[in-house]
Amino acid sequence: MASSLLLQLCIIFVVFGLAFAQLSENYYAKSCPQAKCIIKDEVRKTIKKEPGMGGSLLHLHFHDCGVGGCDGSILLDDTPKTPGEKSSLINVNSTWGYEVIDRIKARLEKTCPGVVSCADILAAAARDSVVTLGGPTWALPLGRRDSTEPHRMLTDTLGSLFNANLQALVMAFKQQGYTMEEFVALTGSHTIGRARCLTFRKHIYDDKNINPAFAKAMQAHCPKVGNDSERIPIDSTTPYVFDNAYFKNLLQQKGLLAIDQELYTGKGGITDAIVANYSSNQDIFFKQYVTAITKFGQTGVLTGNKGEVRTNCRKVNAPKA
Ligand SMILES: *[C@@H]1O[C@H](CO)[C@@H](O)[C@H](O)[C@H]1NC(C)=O
Ligand SMILES: *[C@@H]1O[C@H](CO)[C@@H](O)[C@H](O)[C@H]1NC(C)=O
Ligand SMILES: *[C@@H]1O[C@H](CO)[C@@H](O)[C@H](O)[C@H]1NC(C)=O
Repeated sequence: MASSLLLQLCIIFVVFGLAFAQLSENYYAKSCPQAKCIIKDEVRKTIKKEPGMGGSLLHLHFHDCGVGGCDGSILLDDTPKTPGEKSSLINVNSTWGYEVIDRIKARLEKTCPGVVSCADILAAAARDSVVTLGGPTWALPLGRRDSTEPHRMLTDTLGSLFNANLQALVMAFKQQGYTMEEFVALTGSHTIGRARCLTFRKHIYDDKNINPAFAKAMQAHCPKVGNDSERIPIDSTTPYVFDNAYFKNLLQQKGLLAIDQELYTGKGGITDAIVANYSSNQDIFFKQYVTAITKFGQTGVLTGNKGEVRTNCRKVNAPKA
């Protein structure tokens, strides 16, 4: 089943692990000092018009890093010879915002041609989305380079790991050096996310671990049949504010996605205490989130002379004559 969900996707990056490479906050200080401002400006303008796009941009960064590392590979369009990642079942109808990245890239190419990578644009747009919607900010290491091919096979293969249970996900993250607190914090990205009816229909009609009034309210948007691709905010309290309401909702059994609600069972589940902690203390959530996403954003990056800096995020550069 195609799905737009961070939690299910996160398992994917495990294959590649972390590369502690030479990224630096000042990477473009000389080559393109305007880069940060241009990206922030375009993100702000976009979110002002369409608040839901903030979550979409964050989601894109996750899906980029989650499969084969943060290398902009998700942005490559299908070609007759090489199918891209965006048409893979886990991304189709689930990832949005490609045209926002195009707009940012076009402005950057005008100002400093061939300098700022698509992978860095994704990372910066994710951070700026979180900040624009009221979340924490963090120092962003830059200097990722772009892949010269999509990881389509991997995307398809890992898509079949979809029904990972919580325990397996926690273990997978642990193996990559994430604490359980960091893992749970990352799921907090859903505070600005949206999900399609088809991804949570079973939960709102058949599950017991859900607040009945909440289930009913959601059923009004998602009938038993139809509206499959209708996108509903995951955090129904403050859909377009990056805050800890997502965790508060879980305490009231108002998690929209079954796997989110698994994070809090109320019966001594392995992550119950952490969810409770974040729900009562937003600062602690933010602090852990920043640590975790800074790490996540450096998954399997290409640096030095690996990869390239694409001039069009949708296609690899033409070979030099
Ligand atoms: C994607 O959405 C379109 C339009 O709603 C729909 O026709 C198509 O079947 C969907 N594809 C998948 C794989 O969900
Ligand atoms: C489909 O979703 C829209 C938006 O949430 C809602 O207004 C509409 O009533 C839904 N359709 C059905 C048949 O439930
Ligand atoms: C909440 O989390 C913080 C940071 O992980 C920790 O220091 C603190 O002890 C936790 N508080 C509770 C009540 O669990």
